[in-house]
Amino acid sequence: MRALNVLKETFFGLDAVQKQVLIGSAVAAGGLLAYLLHKRKAIRTIPLGKGWWGAGEKLLSEDQKIYPFQVKTSDEEIQDLYERIDKTRYADPLEDSGFQYGFNSTYLKKVVSYWRHEFDWKKQVAMLNKYPHFKTKIEGLDVHFIHVRPPHRENQKVLPLMLVHGWPGSFYEFYRILPLLTEGQDGVAFEVICPSIPGYGFSEASHKQGFDSLAAARIFLTLMERLGFSQFYLQGGDWGSLITTNMSQMKPQCVKGLHLNMCMVMRGFKLLLSLIVGPYLPFLVGFSREDVRRLFPYMEKNVWNMLKESGYMHIQSTKPDTAGCGLNSSPVGLAAYILEKFSTWTDMKNRDLADGGLERKFSLDDLLTNVMIYWTTGSIVSSMRFYKENFKSDPSYRMDGRTGIFVPTGLAAFPAELLHCPKSWAETRYRNLCHYTFMPRGGHFAAFEEPQLLASDFFQFVKKVEKS
Ligand SMILES: *[C@@H]1O[C@H](CO)[C@@H](O)[C@H](O)[C@H]1NC(C)=O
Ligand SMILES: *[C@@H]1O[C@H](CO)[C@@H](O)[C@H](O)[C@H]1NC(C)=O
Repeated sequence: MRALNVLKETFFGLDAVQKQVLIGSAVAAGGLLAYLLHKRKAIRTIPLGKGWWGAGEKLLSEDQKIYPFQVKTSDEEIQDLYERIDKTRYADPLEDSGFQYGFNSTYLKKVVSYWRHEFDWKKQVAMLNKYPHFKTKIEGLDVHFIHVRPPHRENQKVLPLMLVHGWPGSFYEFYRILPLLTEGQDGVAFEVICPSIPGYGFSEASHKQGFDSLAAARIFLTLMERLGFSQFYLQGGDWGSLITTNMSQMKPQCVKGLHLNMCMVMRGFKLLLSLIVGPYLPFLVGFSREDVRRLFPYMEKNVWNMLKESGYMHIQSTKPDTAGCGLNSSPVGLAAYILEKFSTWTDMKNRDLADGGLERKFSLDDLLTNVMIYWTTGSIVSSMRFYKENFKSDPSYRMDGRTGIFVPTGLAAFPAELLHCPKSWAETRYRNLCHYTFMPRGGHFAAFEEPQLLASDFFQFVKKVEKS
């Protein structure tokens, strides 16, 4: 009360000009505050930009038709594969090393023997063709996708959905979750579009430098537009998570909901603070007990593991063509390189096993089909270049975009994912995070490994979004 009186006396003691200046500054400060608050909430977008990635000069007009496509193989292709497999030179075994030195070559021989004598690529090709494939030209590139419609049912709501894969995966990762999504649940089913990232599998690789997640995002937005979808859902992990995120930033009005099973958030100071305070006072930085369990000890679970496991990333974001050359000539080298990731990224503990735990979650048929998609299309080098292009421009800008994401977002946090992302971190970028689930089991390749779990979390997310 006394203070107020003092303030009052001071104010009335001022002359008219002084009063005006004071009131003026108060109004200005209030205005600035209101502006800042508004700016925090305002939906910002990232520019669509443009690009052309074909060989040579840009064409004046582009064929916008959509062509049916089928995966094909030939006896020559299979014969060539067998000859190369038979000529493989293996390294001598190291005692008791499990998968600690990379793909265990004793186990590799077993995988390769299955590949050579039992795996039936012709049968797998027929299986791949059970869903309708298409290609269409966008920005100078032939873009491949599958398009699966749900069976017709009375009173069923059909929602369009795009699923985006990552590295070293392919559209094939989604073959098990697809029927669950098109089959539907509680009167909701999905019409699913599942493209190959340009440079991966059957999508043509860029002929020009600079093809990054923003370019892929724009191309996939064009694809959805060309297919006649003005509003749709998006789902992705790995590169798919970055690409679908960028799609949501470019055209938020088109994205009804974004569901991710990997989330990259790198906030300098806030992140550092939560790492220091988190283990002791988790509630202060918005951590749950489960977050603490998954994040700490931070050095061991994140820093050291990342150092041990991210060598491939450094190579691929600097000299992809050098390392890729060997992989593109040797099917066995390619299989070891790709399948090592399916072992370690499914569970870090798999490194201690002689067989990398690969067949615990996957069949050799499924794993080798994914390898064959890289092998037969010769796309390993272009798939690796995607790292270089994405890390090329200022990496802090790339990974910590200043632009938030404002579409309804859901995150399925799988316990064996490479880096755990607590809800309180995800929220700093995803401003409308309306769904977050600690998944009970599973790792990096969620759709491939735990299709049921991922599908049911996705249905729950969509139910929430459709209700509001
Ligand atoms: C594969 O792992 C087993 C078990 O740790 C080990 O005995 C064997 O030497 C390993 N093979 C190679 C080639 O490293
Ligand atoms: C594109 O999305 C990724 C993944 O979230 C993000 O790191 C990057 O900053 C985004 N790009 C821009 C320009 O915001």
